[in-house]
Amino acid sequence: MYELPPLRYALNALEPYISERTVDIHYHRHHQGYLDKLNNFLNSVNYDYRYSLEELINHIDEFPINIRGQILYNAGGVLNHNLYWNSIGPGNKNIPVGTIKEAIDKEFGSFENFKEEFMKQAGLVVGSGWTFLVINGEGKLEIINTSNQETPYLYGLKPIMALDLWEHAYYLDYQNRRDQYISNFFQIVDFDMINKLYEKEK
Ligand SMILES: [Fe+2]
Repeated sequence: MYELPPLRYALNALEPYISERTVDIHYHRHHQGYLDKLNNFLNSVNYDYRYSLEELINHIDEFPINIRGQILYNAGGVLNHNLYWNSIGPGNKNIPVGTIKEAIDKEFGSFENFKEEFMKQAGLVVGSGWTFLVINGEGKLEIINTSNQETPYLYGLKPIMALDLWEHAYYLDYQNRRDQYISNFFQIVDFDMINKLYEKEK
């Protein structure tokens, strides 16, 4: 069975930007919910858990066609949330450092430009979806949006930073003020973690 990585911080560590209640429900019910459904679908076909979650996405054609959509949706939900919790954290790590700083400056001109572009893309998400910073096939950084629980791995892209724009991510704290949730994401974004992932994946 696949398992959730433990949260790296306390449930209240993201306050005041994201409340303890939101993190609790988001991690223990929504994230866990995608995982449980994924395991159930996979167990229903006696899957042997030979693949990592990323590999599972690329081997989806090995599964019965009538459950592929559910596997992709729930595996995407798990992967996207794993990355979301990794992308944020306490401790004021919200300024890019190291290799990722160089790459952001090179691709976007400056961190300020990058931030503006990321927030602009996030503002364009309609319905439930995500904004990601990804490494594309040419090894360059790109900001993309996906719908529902679509994962960038589906398109051969390696996501290194994720912003959850489903209402469950912010509604208790922000109600309709999604723009404020998006800009506060940049208060708690964790570029130490994003840099580590970038150095591993690039
Ligand atoms: Fe979510």
